[in-house]
Order: sequence, then structure tokens, then C-alpha cells
Amino acid sequence: METLNKTDKHEAVSAYYGSTLEKSEDLKTNACCTVKRYPAPIQKAMDLIHDEVLEKYYGCGLTIPDGLEGKRVLDLGSGSGRDCYIASYLVGPQGAVVGIDMTDEQLAVARRHIDYHAKQFGYAQPNVEFHKGLIEKLDEVGLETDSFDVAISNCVINLCPDKPAALREIFRVLKPGGQFYFSDVYSDQPVPAHLVDDPVLYGECLSGALAEQDFIRLAVEAGFRTPIEIERSEITIDNEEVQKKVGGLRFDSITFNVIKPGELT
Ligand SMILES: C[S@@+](CC[C@H](N)C(=O)[O-])C[C@H]1O[C@@H](n2cnc3c(N)ncnc32)[C@H](O)[C@@H]1O
Repeated sequence: METLNKTDKHEAVSAYYGSTLEKSEDLKTNACCTVKRYPAPIQKAMDLIHDEVLEKYYGCGLTIPDGLEGKRVLDLGSGSGRDCYIASYLVGPQGAVVGIDMTDEQLAVARRHIDYHAKQFGYAQPNVEFHKGLIEKLDEVGLETDSFDVAISNCVINLCPDKPAALREIFRVLKPGGQFYFSDVYSDQPVPAHLVDDPVLYGECLSGALAEQDFIRLAVEAGFRTPIEIERSEITIDNEEVQKKVGGLRFDSITFNVIKPGELT
């Protein structure tokens, strides 16, 4: 079996989302696309989003908190931009949204619909922009310390080979009192190394998953308050070959709200 070492995980994931997959249905399991019913304001925004953006959605849950109007929102691993455009609608013309992704093909889809969505939402100017970069190195993208009210992310942190670095960077760019409200995949126990090195299991958002308790510990070590669980659903996998490989491991898609201590101003 072809295996992945830590240094080539970014490249493998980029190739998976840049060229192996063309649309949500190409995924081999349901890990990245757990079906959800969305709250009415989010559904209203989704009804206005371009089909190409929706077709390339690879998220696993709910990432949009209440009360976004006027806020500055950062989406980590923004992909084709679905959640950025939902946030763009909900923050309104006075708010702003920045999407960060490392994969050129995903960024290209997101960027080509910026003007379309500004028009759909009735904005004189777009309030969303997309930048190429790594979540572990947000400083290299020029993102300033204490500069965002809300960070969101949908099924991406499991794909980061250096999760402590990713969490430290997200903590740094959030304002005091800001929230990291995100959905990701978690396992019920640490995933064995030979599964973490399997490119398909890793790309499918399964074997890079942290055990839930390990995530909670890393978030607190990065400086956040203890994560608050918002919702969860079990991932059923729905693929015999993949199920055989992961054996008795259980995976859940969980939305956590993780707050940086302080008072939001
Ligand atoms: C499972 S897809 C989710 C995309 C999007 N959030 C959505 O809901 O459709 C993962 C995305 O995260 C990006 N990604 C993964 N690891 C990353 C990293 N370390 N830094 C930046 N982007 C990353 C990939 O390029 C891909 O577009």
C-alpha cells in the first residue's frame, strides 16, 4: 500500500481535493458530507449560492454561528467557498469574510463566483476574498494577530498534519472573545499510525481525525477555553472496503464552539 509521511500530507490532500475529486458524490464515504438540515437563515443563503460552489462542497457539518451581522469572519480550508458565501450573506455589506485554502483548483472555483454572489446578495462591492495559504502558517498569508471576530472551518482540521500549529495560529488571529466555531471529524480513540498513513483514509477525512479528548486538550493548550459541543452525528462510512480497514473505530462529525478568552470589542 502507498503510504504518506508527514511532509507529503499537504501535497497529497491538495491533489485529492484539487484533481482526484470533482464533486461531492466522488467521495468514497460519507465522512466529509454528513447530511444536515440547516437552520432557516442558512438555508436562505444556500438557495442563492452558485451550483458549481455547492457541487464541490466537502464539509461535514454546521459551521455558521448566530449573530454574524457586521462581523469579520475567517474560513479555514474554504474549498470552493460555500461556507464563505453563506457567511458573506449573513455578515451583510458591513461585514467581511476571508477564505484560506492551499489548493489552487478549489481557490479558482471560489474566486470565479465572487461577483456573482455580490450581485445575488445585492451588495455594491464584494465582501469576501480568498487567499492561498496554509492554516498552520497564517502569518505567511499576512493575517494579523487579534483581527477576526469569528473563525469557521468545515472538515479541514483533521487534514492538517500539524494540528497544534493550526490551533495556535487560529488562536492568534482571533480577537479576544472571538470564537472558533467549526465542524470536524473525531475518532473515539487514537487512530493507529498505519491508518494515518493511508492516503485514501486520510484524504477522506477519517484517519487524520483526532480522538475527541486529544482535540479538547490541544485546544486548551493553545489558549482556548474548554470547547463547547454544539452538535454531533455518527459517521456511518457506507463503504465496505473502508469499513474493513478502520475496523472497530467509531467516527463522529462534531461542531464545537471554542472561545478565545477575553471581551469581544
Ligand atoms: C474536506 S475539504 C472541505 C472544503 C470546504 N471547507 C467545504 O466545506 O467544502 C478540505 C479543504 O481544506 C483544504 N486544506 C486541507 N488542509 C489544509 C491546510 N493545512 N491549509 C490550508 N488548506 C487546507 C483543502 O485544500 C480542501 O479544499
